[in-house]
Amino acid sequence: MVVQRFQAPIDGKLSAEMTAAYERDGVLVLEGMVPRRDCQALMRRAGELVEGFDTSESATVFSTTTRSHDRDEYFRTSGGRIRFFLEEGAIAADGALNREKSQCINKVGHALHDLDPVFDAFSRDRRLSAVAQSIGCARPLLLQSMYIFKQPNIGGEVTWHQDSTYLYTEPLSVFGLWIALEDATIENGCLWALPGRHLEPLRNRYRYVDGKLTTEVLNPEKWPEEGKVPLEVPQGTLVVLHGSLPHRSDTNFSGKSRHAYALHVIDGACRYTDDNWLRRPADMPLRGFDG
Ligand code: FE2
Repeated sequence: MVVQRFQAPIDGKLSAEMTAAYERDGVLVLEGMVPRRDCQALMRRAGELVEGFDTSESATVFSTTTRSHDRDEYFRTSGGRIRFFLEEGAIAADGALNREKSQCINKVGHALHDLDPVFDAFSRDRRLSAVAQSIGCARPLLLQSMYIFKQPNIGGEVTWHQDSTYLYTEPLSVFGLWIALEDATIENGCLWALPGRHLEPLRNRYRYVDGKLTTEVLNPEKWPEEGKVPLEVPQGTLVVLHGSLPHRSDTNFSGKSRHAYALHVIDGACRYTDDNWLRRPADMPLRGFDG
């Protein structure tokens, strides 16, 4: 199976063929969505943010010998912050980094789109808004943003999952807008997907149960490797991912990074349940594409 590819529409409005492909496959590939200079501007900005990241913070938060409580807290409160998460392969036992800071970050999240002016402006591009509207999202709310580095040689694997496991609404509504800021190839850890499997029910939920973050297994079956498709895409491609589509990515064993920006959007017409892991401070209500 091959996933159909399209040239991104100039105004972001999807054709009937594009929406049909999204509904059929649960994934839509739009090449040439983001100009090279815009990709480069985001990469530059991410570099500046990392430059400002205090690595002593990592020693207290990420040391394998400190209480995992600190690490938990850093993650749990990241829904309303800009937080830096490290590659496991880059942390020594005392929490010190074993390579240059810029090569150690796995991702930055999860409120870049609200707290950083460059990511805010990029995320609220009218074309992204038009894509959301085209796939039937009545009242889009920008819930989560992540800058993913997929560092050379150590960029960690992400196992099969559905995004609705982590960002749950009733009824389900989350979708991902995943933008390749650099070419994504099998070698540097591109996305893989199981097209069409978004029509299946959610298999896990990651949520608070009695104050503890828990993975609730709804269906213990493993996703099959048969039928998986690599999404090798050039820089500037937008990949729209249905919230129930199983997807994964491999460890980056190559010498090239694979930067990407991912924005997760829910429909404000649906109910974002309060047992979700991602919580926002009361003074930071979710906003749509119009600001
Ligand atoms: Fe995902």
